[in-house]
Amino acid sequence: MFGKEKKQIIYMGSDHAGFEAKNKLKKVLESRGYDVTDLGSFTEKPTDYPDIAREVGEKVSEHKDSFGIIICGTGIGVAMAANKVRGIRAAQANNEHYAEMARRHNNANILTMGGRTTEFEDMKKIATKFLNTDFEDKKRHVRRVNKIEGGNTR
Ligand code: RB5
Repeated sequence: MFGKEKKQIIYMGSDHAGFEAKNKLKKVLESRGYDVTDLGSFTEKPTDYPDIAREVGEKVSEHKDSFGIIICGTGIGVAMAANKVRGIRAAQANNEHYAEMARRHNNANILTMGGRTTEFEDMKKIATKFLNTDFEDKKRHVRRVNKIEGGNTR
């Protein structure tokens, strides 16, 4: 899929509620040629979603141009937690339109979804849209995204 170019790096994570979907989606993305690193959960044992969300957030923040995908029950808690990491713009998306706009206008670098709220087939479509949509590098979008981090406000 990426030819001789560098593969797109994706960090994935989940809590127990997103465990199964995360594992399934990981296989799909690996089969499409993505360079996927799974940061857990590695069992269905109940875990605290902020821990894994922070870990994914830190990896994405450290590795320029990487993406993250985190799945919990709803996608809400992991988005809240990941967004505490500097440089992270995590967006919860329940359909392809949200995924597309999160990339085009918000330059989201982490996608979050709900293992208890979204069918797996829909998750695949949402993730595909997210990974294949570029940020609209227009002045107004760059300015607005910069304001999220508290920088360059005018
Ligand atoms: C776990 O029961 C659930 O609260 C968690 O997966 C997530 O949905 C939180 O936002």
